[in-house]
Amino acid sequence: MKTRGKSDNSNAGSDSKGRDVNEEVKTKTKCLTPKKSNPLGMTEHEMLLALDETGGRLRKRKFAQSYHVDMKQCPVSGCDSRGHLMGRFERHFTLAACPIYHNLTPERCRANHEANERLRKDQAEDAGRDQVIVHHNTRNQTEVEATPSQTKYRKRVQRSREQHSSSEHRKSDPEHQAEHGVKEPLLNHVASEYDLNLFRQAQALASEGLEHELERLHESGLLSQDGSNPDRRIKVIEIGRYEMDTWYSSPYPEEYVQLPKLYICEFCLKYMKSSTILRRHMAKCVWRHPPGDEIYRKGTISVFEVDGKKNKIYSQNLCLLAKLFLDHKTLYYDVEPFLFYVMTEADLTGCHMVGYFSKEKNSFLNYNVSCILTMPQHMRKGYGKMMIDFSYLLSRKEGKTGSPERPLSDLGLLSYRSYWTDIIISYLSKLDAAADLVIRDISQETAVHPADIVSTLQALQMLKYWKGKHIILKKQDIIEDWLRKQTKKPAEFSSRAIDSKCLKWSPTRQKE
Ligand code: ACO
Ligand code: ZN
Repeated sequence: MKTRGKSDNSNAGSDSKGRDVNEEVKTKTKCLTPKKSNPLGMTEHEMLLALDETGGRLRKRKFAQSYHVDMKQCPVSGCDSRGHLMGRFERHFTLAACPIYHNLTPERCRANHEANERLRKDQAEDAGRDQVIVHHNTRNQTEVEATPSQTKYRKRVQRSREQHSSSEHRKSDPEHQAEHGVKEPLLNHVASEYDLNLFRQAQALASEGLEHELERLHESGLLSQDGSNPDRRIKVIEIGRYEMDTWYSSPYPEEYVQLPKLYICEFCLKYMKSSTILRRHMAKCVWRHPPGDEIYRKGTISVFEVDGKKNKIYSQNLCLLAKLFLDHKTLYYDVEPFLFYVMTEADLTGCHMVGYFSKEKNSFLNYNVSCILTMPQHMRKGYGKMMIDFSYLLSRKEGKTGSPERPLSDLGLLSYRSYWTDIIISYLSKLDAAADLVIRDISQETAVHPADIVSTLQALQMLKYWKGKHIILKKQDIIEDWLRKQTKKPAEFSSRAIDSKCLKWSPTRQKE
């Protein structure tokens, strides 16, 4: 589980040095008021096949997006990337530009290119002579006649087309396919040499453009080395009254990932493609709170326990949503071994999700939180610590100590470090001056794992190794600072404390 390139380091105090991670995490949350021309004489199928396979303009974009492209090596088996269909480059890296794929050789491509260049030059010279003749004739001319070069050109095309017999070589195609595997179909029977040459030139131009485009995308970072687009992710979601930018990618189905915005029902978490579909859904959706049992309620705050097995779709949708704000690999589909604790705030329209945490039903390592998320519109208002406190309340009820699953994200570490500091300092501040501070006692009373207490004391520089023993320094200045900070917190933060009396839950409830 790694987030924004940083992993948990229990001794790392860096995040508590006042660095505001929000500056790094740029989240914008907005509250919303409530048949084809066929010049080559090919059959349509043949033409499509040739264009499709060679990455002609028609398919260019799709090719770039959907094929894995090694920017150095041609994907055609047996090809060493030498030559280019265009004939004037030393190397290629796409099937579209591969001489072998087009049943040619690099040398043949170069020879074709040189012949075409010569032809172009001749034509340009002929056209130059035409201009002189046309200039001389303009005075008497009444009717526009073909120039000598145009006549020469027309005759050459006619001759070339007469030579072409459409039935020629047709039968050799299946043999070719069997012999050469996945290659372009043999085109020599499809059109005259002249037309085919024109087509080859168009293919070559398209392949040049395609490789150029791929290189450009690669250089600009829009295409990774394996050809996948690293930036393909849902960037904006609309959920409830909020529209927000996402932070990371989430494995929503392919057709949703390409949308400019994803619309999510804030109650059942179903995701949709448009605001119209969402509007229609909201008119029909009967959900006004998460599924499962409401195990906690105080004021407008409730916590619902959702069983991943009983509410599989909801739990999967919750994981997909959470992944948009979590960098690490989280579970998406295998939700059955988990319970989800969804915290909501109620108003007249329903219980709106403020955040959630997931917890393994049977954690071998005694993790009491697997993943935790506060919805971005509710971050930094104390809900994160409230959910953390709630997770420890459940652990206390279970008679266990717990710890969050590792590694923690930057924000996860910040929040846990702050929570553990609160726990330890509040404990110390109430402790009799003469009394001994024993880590096991704090752990038993708070359900915080001893290792987390030790790492927090170290981060606070309150743990010292002296004469072969670890001793805790009760630093009065730190305690006073902490007490002062508490008084400065906005009033609504204190109302966001978990009240254990409001929990209606027992650990004996069946957990499969
Ligand atoms: N910059 C600086 N400090 C911050 C920031 C921030 N962006 N966000 C939270 N904090 C501090 C707060 O100041 C507070 O400390 P304080 O009481 O000493 O002032 C503490 O962290 C907790 O703040 P809350 O408001 O209670 O936390 P919040 O509701 O914002 O939720 C959470 C914290 C859940 C980590 C949230 O940031 C989040 O969902 N992040 C994205 C998902 C994520 O990273 N989850 C944790 C993964 S690790 C795991 O799942 C086990
Ligand atoms: Zn719904």
